[in-house]
Amino acid sequence: MQRKIEIVTHEAINSQKNGSLYNIYVGDLAQTWSAWFGAFAKKQIVVICDENTAKFCLPVFLQKTALKDYTLIISEAGELHKNIHTCNIIWSKMLEMGIDRQAICINLGGGVIGDMGGFCAATFKRGIDFVQVPTTLLSQVDSSIGGKLGIDFQGVKNSIGVFNDPKAVFLDSDFLATLSPREIRSGFAEMIKHALIADRNEWKKLCQLESLNAIDWADFIVPSLAVKRQIVEDDPFEKGIRKALNFGHTIGHAVESYFLETESPLLHGEAIAIGMICEAYLSFKNNDLTEVELAEIVAFMKCFYDKKILPSESFDTLINSMKQDKKNENQAINFTFLSGIGQAKINQTTDNECIINSLVYYNEIN
Ligand SMILES: NC(=O)c1ccc[n+]([C@@H]2O[C@H](COP(=O)([O-])OP(=O)(O)OC[C@H]3O[C@@H](n4cnc5c(N)ncnc54)[C@H](O)[C@@H]3O)[C@@H](O)[C@H]2O)c1
Ligand SMILES: [Zn+2]
Repeated sequence: MQRKIEIVTHEAINSQKNGSLYNIYVGDLAQTWSAWFGAFAKKQIVVICDENTAKFCLPVFLQKTALKDYTLIISEAGELHKNIHTCNIIWSKMLEMGIDRQAICINLGGGVIGDMGGFCAATFKRGIDFVQVPTTLLSQVDSSIGGKLGIDFQGVKNSIGVFNDPKAVFLDSDFLATLSPREIRSGFAEMIKHALIADRNEWKKLCQLESLNAIDWADFIVPSLAVKRQIVEDDPFEKGIRKALNFGHTIGHAVESYFLETESPLLHGEAIAIGMICEAYLSFKNNDLTEVELAEIVAFMKCFYDKKILPSESFDTLINSMKQDKKNENQAINFTFLSGIGQAKINQTTDNECIINSLVYYNEIN
């Protein structure tokens, strides 16, 4: 089957796209869900939430979908719980409740629940169906599509996991109303990334934003999602162009892992924002991002993200962590650079000295 993923807005809900691998339904869940769910209504249903989405999102979800008969599994919230212990709890509860191979699992939450709930579903009894109902900005524009599922292991992010596609994804921006400004900023980093790697016009639109308060996210979600959708359709298993999505993530993941072990962990997007500045610097030093474009990127990031000094004694740890990156080949750290705003260049390498210079460059931004 051709690997098409359709974005279906609720205006187009009745023209179901049946030839696609799965659909991403955008709009009010009250309209999108009922058009889709009929075929699954007789199956066992598992809903996986974390403690926050159980409180803030589950009531909205139940009210919009009128779902009644389901097994609810609630995990502790946050990246620290995206691990094998929580999977153990989820799988145990599924076994205890007699969940069968025909069941469908609904992952209601941010990227942690989407990745981990999806991983548990994809492995339980060799795999049950699942749908993603992302509730953070980050998960709506990024993690809920593309089929990457998994957990952190031994302090290494997403080091255990599988590729597996959901049956459908439901994006309803109403869920974003209860997110903290910090979480909104974290998701916004992935939107910035999508614009920087593939959509110069969207970058210009983002540059006009002065604050992230009172934004109608529905206007920004579809263009951002469209970048990811196109890339994962073209390269589902990250053999080539999908690596573009890792812009900012080679350094960003190392920074995220480092601060995860400290008193003041960073959110994923906050770490990626740092990674994007460092990797934009590397793009300028190693490729053809101009100094003006680098300055434009840095100035924009400064408006939204607080500075977090990277201690010089962390540099070795950061480089070692980058060496663990799954994209690496032949022991060289693999980067995606920008060859201009809106254009990515994959499979780039540089030397350790240059990487350290990029960390110093970040630290020295006023
Ligand atoms: N699979 C992929 O392709 C992919 C891509 C990018 C990121 N990720 C992963 O996504 C994760 C980060 O996702 P995230 O930022 O959504 O984190 P998250 O799932 O931890 O959610 C952030 C916080 O917001 C809370 N929350 C979620 N929805 C809420 C709502 N509507 N109202 C109030 N609180 C809410 C959560 O309980 C949590 O405390 C990371 O683990 C990262 O590795 C995966
Ligand atoms: Zn990311």
